[in-house]
Amino acid sequence: MTGRIKDIVTRSAIWHPFTQHGLDEPIPLVTRAEGAALYTADGRRIVDAISSWWVTTHGHCHPRIMAAIKAQTEKLDQIIFAGWTHEPAEEVAAGLREIMPPSLTRVFFSDSGSTAVEVALKMALGFFANRGEERRRIVVMEHSYHGDTIGAMSVGARGVFNAAYAPLLFDVGRVTFPGAHPQATLDGLEAECAAGAAAFIVEPLVLGAGGMLMYPPAVLAEMRAICAAHGTLFIADEVMTGWGRTGTLLACEQADVVPDILCISKGLTGGAVPLAVTMASEPVWEAHYSQDRTKTFFHSSSYTANPIACAAAAENLAIWREEPMLERVATLAARQENRLARLAGHPAVANVRRCGTIAALELGSAEGSYLSDLGPQLLARFREANLLLRPLGNTIYVMPPYCIDETDLDTIYAATSDAADWVAGLG
Ligand SMILES: Cc1ncc(COP(=O)(O)O)c(C=O)c1O
Repeated sequence: MTGRIKDIVTRSAIWHPFTQHGLDEPIPLVTRAEGAALYTADGRRIVDAISSWWVTTHGHCHPRIMAAIKAQTEKLDQIIFAGWTHEPAEEVAAGLREIMPPSLTRVFFSDSGSTAVEVALKMALGFFANRGEERRRIVVMEHSYHGDTIGAMSVGARGVFNAAYAPLLFDVGRVTFPGAHPQATLDGLEAECAAGAAAFIVEPLVLGAGGMLMYPPAVLAEMRAICAAHGTLFIADEVMTGWGRTGTLLACEQADVVPDILCISKGLTGGAVPLAVTMASEPVWEAHYSQDRTKTFFHSSSYTANPIACAAAAENLAIWREEPMLERVATLAARQENRLARLAGHPAVANVRRCGTIAALELGSAEGSYLSDLGPQLLARFREANLLLRPLGNTIYVMPPYCIDETDLDTIYAATSDAADWVAGLG
């Protein structure tokens, strides 16, 4: 690290997300990344066990995606997207139409998972408003997380993350997480839909930030059927679960479910640059299609469909078309399964579970708790072991880039096993 950079970092003005600066935890300076590894200014190689917040699918600085970004920077950097278009965006839209469910005919761009969700909610309400129907209530699942903008927080779990902002949040219907009692979830959803709910938004198969909670495809399929029976729009938030994370391109595929509205982001660019898409079915589009300007879909942001981000996404789509992505995903899933199995009998380990490439367990207590005191201590241990492994309280999850090799995976699981020994008082 040069003297100047060291100085700047010491006096940094940066206010980091989801970081309590008062705890004075070290903030490593990362200078470069490749594959599943991050390299810091003080010479460490860190294994990225959580794909840098679940975005990096193929690996950091993937050569094909980097080359596509470079090529695009020489052609077109940015252009207003209201009433204008460009090749990379058209390529992404056409590519998505090829691999996403055929009934999702329309592609709306935004910049993050949260905005993809805001767009989905607005499309759902616009659908009913433009048809002159009085359906406004949104239904959500307990423990959900859909992002940190106001609408996305409103449809997420209430708690420490958003208690201070409660006056800004709108009221929603809630169904229970389908753990031990899936029928209660289905009954709750049936009641909400029968009462005229406009839309149900859900993370398919895995609730991420809520604690990597997993539920079976059959429940997802039944929830979808209930919504369809009552004309309630079904919004699948695949921001985390999309792009192979759960073993299939979309988690919904495992339940043979096609949503009315689909949110994708994170792995859309392979995790290289921010971009998001909300895909909608033809009826949702048609409800906004009119000679009447008041029925326009009123949503945009300055960087909607930024050409450089779209070039990265177009290359990601080409990788999915041309390379054996699902085989890679299956290989990682099997490797995770082997290592999880070795931890399963440990006295400090509970609820060992996996969905595709996502592995999770609780340490110390079978109940996951985000504010568990174990969280910061585990984080510090993993940092010492040169791992980017960021537990959700006492829930440890491993969600690495698909290119991770066996040695790096072993490092992650050795540190997890050491942490379990320490929690059990054995280490
Ligand atoms: C399921 C889900 N939806 C939405 C979001 C929000 O995405 P972003 O952080 O890109 O706004 C996340 C982020 O982790 C997520 O997991």
